[in-house]
Amino acid sequence: MAKVFCEGLLKGKVAFITGGGSGINLRIAERFAEQGARLTLVGRQQEKLDAAVKRIESLGAKALGVSADVRNYEALEDAFRKTKEAYGEVDILICGAAGNFPAPAVGMSANGFKSVIDIDLLGVFHTCRAGFEHLRKPGASLIAISATHAFIPYPMQSHVCAAKAGIELLCKTLAIEWGPLGVRVNTIAPGPVDETEGMDRLTPTAESREKLMKTIPLGRYAKKDEIADLAIFLCSDAARYITGATLVCDGGSALVGSSAFMQTMGL
Ligand code: COA
Repeated sequence: MAKVFCEGLLKGKVAFITGGGSGINLRIAERFAEQGARLTLVGRQQEKLDAAVKRIESLGAKALGVSADVRNYEALEDAFRKTKEAYGEVDILICGAAGNFPAPAVGMSANGFKSVIDIDLLGVFHTCRAGFEHLRKPGASLIAISATHAFIPYPMQSHVCAAKAGIELLCKTLAIEWGPLGVRVNTIAPGPVDETEGMDRLTPTAESREKLMKTIPLGRYAKKDEIADLAIFLCSDAARYITGATLVCDGGSALVGSSAFMQTMGL
């Protein structure tokens, strides 16, 4: 991939990434590593984290894999303590852990809905709240990986839409409360991103992928690198006056709303 940033933009920074063992968050971790950051990757499965740490180390960077479920506040506190022991305070927090499955509201139990709210919304609160004591303030940058679901209602996604909408206002509120301390809080709202578990679940067949792609103004899914580029920008000094923002990175898909998605899903 063509390099769009000069090297060393995040030199010496410590980044704590939930959901860092795979998908968009792992790609963000790899790109942060290339830019000189040291990393803590948090996820539920230690084996996935171990493999991710190896990938980061092969890039010549330092990484720590700490197994924790973002629904468990004490486990996150422990992950921050381990990060402090390894590197010192945290400069960058990426709240990336998320859960999703396609189902209509009447097709999921109360516990199914709650599981996604707990992972996505409560998980972001837990990460920010537990991380706050450990942030190197001022200069710290927090990013929650949201989705266009935060402002567009998608059928089969009531749980995710509710969670992501909550994340948006949570982050905007934190931006007000923590701005005077020099802590920036933003969200990234991707549309469909290629080679992710989420899109594999939502468009499992080549036919459904093709159909959905045709509805996106830029005609394709995002590459994980394109979300990572935005995260690098937001954490860098170039974004020093940006807080409380939602940066949409979706090839224009939000502009056409959810009707295209409904047609693709045969709704
Ligand atoms: N349709 C309806 N309900 C579903 C479902 C589906 N496809 N998949 C899970 N559920 C329900 C379960 O039935 C359960 O409810 P119940 O106890 O009333 O039966 C509830 O969701 C919790 O499921 P469980 O598998 O026990 O929870 P978990 O905490 O292990 O998993 C999920 C959380 C459900 C979000 C799971 O999909 C997950 O782990 N996802 C992580 C990976 C992922 O989604 N990546 C994409 C990120 S965008």
